[in-house]
Parts: sequence; C-alpha cells; structure tokens
Amino acid sequence: MPPMKFKAVIPAAGLGTRFLPATKAMPKEMLPVVDKPAIQYVVEEAVQAGIEDVLIIIGRNKNNLSNHFDSVPELEDKLRAKGDTSKLQKVMASSDLADIHFVRQGEPKGLGHAVLRAKAHVGTQSFAVLLGDDLIDERDVLLTTMLAEHERTGAAIVALMEVDPDQIHLYGAADVEATDNPDVVKVKGLVEKPQREDAPSNLAIIGRYVLSPAIFEVLERTQPGKGGEIQLTDALQEVAADPTGPGVYGVVFRGRRYDTGDRVDYIKAIVQLAADRDDLGPELRPWFKEFAAGL
Ligand code: G1P
Repeated sequence: MPPMKFKAVIPAAGLGTRFLPATKAMPKEMLPVVDKPAIQYVVEEAVQAGIEDVLIIIGRNKNNLSNHFDSVPELEDKLRAKGDTSKLQKVMASSDLADIHFVRQGEPKGLGHAVLRAKAHVGTQSFAVLLGDDLIDERDVLLTTMLAEHERTGAAIVALMEVDPDQIHLYGAADVEATDNPDVVKVKGLVEKPQREDAPSNLAIIGRYVLSPAIFEVLERTQPGKGGEIQLTDALQEVAADPTGPGVYGVVFRGRRYDTGDRVDYIKAIVQLAADRDDLGPELRPWFKEFAAGL
C-alpha cells in the first residue's frame, strides 16, 4: 500500500475573548508569537510532518488570516528592488508553505462543529487536526509519530501530555491503559474539562488529533456537551467506547509545548521562544536575569 496522504485541518474560528481587545478585529491565531502569527507555527508543523494541503476553518475577521497566507506583490517588489532578501524571504515564507484552503464556520458552536465543517474538503482521506493554542517545538517530534500510529492501526489518535492535576479542568482528560510501546496508550474513555476530582487521570489532550473520516458521522450526531458546544472529545469518547471499531490511542508527548491559550501562558511562550532564538536570545537572556533579579 502506498503511504497515506494526510490533509491538515486547523480550526481558527473561536472568538478569542481572553485576548480582547487585541482580538476585536483579528483572530487570536494571528497574534504574534515573537515575530510570527501563532497559526504560521502550526502550518509549519503540519508541513514538516509531510502535509501539503491545509484547511483553515475561519470565523469572522477572516481577511487577516487569508491575507497572511497570500502573496503581497507590492511589498515583495519593494523588498526585491531594495535587495533585502532576508525580509523578502520572511514575507514569502507563509504564502509558499502549503496549499492552503479556507472554509467558514458561521456560528462558533464548538470544536466538534468546526471539525465537521471540514467534511467536504477532507473527503475520504484521514486527516490531522491542529489547534493553534498549542505550539509544539520544532525540535521535538509529535505529529509524525501520530500519523504513523494512525497508519499502522487505523485508530483515532490524540496527543496526550501530563499536566498539573489542578489544570486538568482546562482540557479533555483521558482514561488510559498501557500498551507495549511506552509512548502510546490505549484510550478507554475521555471527559471534556472535568473537575480535578472527577478526572480519570492527569493526561490532557493537547491540540493534535489524527482522525479518519468516520469521525464526521459521529460528529453529526454528537449533542452539545460542555459549555453547550459540540465537543470533539465527546465524539472521540463514542469511538473509544465502541468495541467493534478501531478505538482511540494516545501518543504521550514529553517534549516542549507552548500554550498560547491565555494571556499568562502566551507571554511565557513568547519569552521562552525568544530566549531560545539565536538572533534574539543573546541580547535577551542577560536582560531577563537582570529583570528577574529586580522583581
Ligand atoms: C480544546 C479541546 C480540549 C483540549 C484542548 C487542547 O479545548 O476541547 O479537549 O484539551 O483544546 O488545547 P479549548 O482549549 O479549545 O477550550
């Protein structure tokens, strides 16, 4: 069998209320993390895993997003005329990345609903879902392992990471059992954003999924859950509970993940990523130390 060709689906239609007023006229996925919008990191991650076709689910303020992945001839011409190849490369990088498509979500009725909007574009192929709130360090491998695991088993694959039990109410939590592979667990059940005392474990779903198109049928009948929204976690719980199907497996990630979902984590992500960069780190690191000493 030839290797599977995956598409990527990136939901970016949330209201981003935690970042108001910055997100009043701009999707939160466009907020810069150092000098790139968060969503560009996510598209780059998909491309690095071999994906060439990316569908972004957009809400209001879609123009910012689609413009970012389009070319800007007048800016490119100016930079070319000036011979500024470094900036020219930066401008062109996002439009040259992949074959990028857009679909509107209309009403933001939850992550499950957003993923369902991808049905026509995805067709009969398996696909990856990447959420822009979670950035995975490009030096660590996650999506490639998940795609391989899906190809091997046909199961739905979620990325899991251990979090502080006090934080589990912010995530989908997984009830798991070990497999022969220490990095892979079988998911017996999933609960969306449980209270700490109700959580089956402190293994949280971080925003990476590899799914077969069978998930669409499940999503079509998934009723609104937590927060009155159609939850992808609830659809996956149904897949996990079906003894006749391929089930759900989790790839346990132990690498570097940056959360950009709320303001404090977003600031931490920028600090960490900037401190690590060769062009910014040498100037920033001593300053961080000086700054921290004065706190
Ligand atoms: C979504 C999912 C949740 C998952 C999280 C990862 O929640 O519903 O299961 O753990 O993404 O970032 P959100 O953060 O969009 O509320």
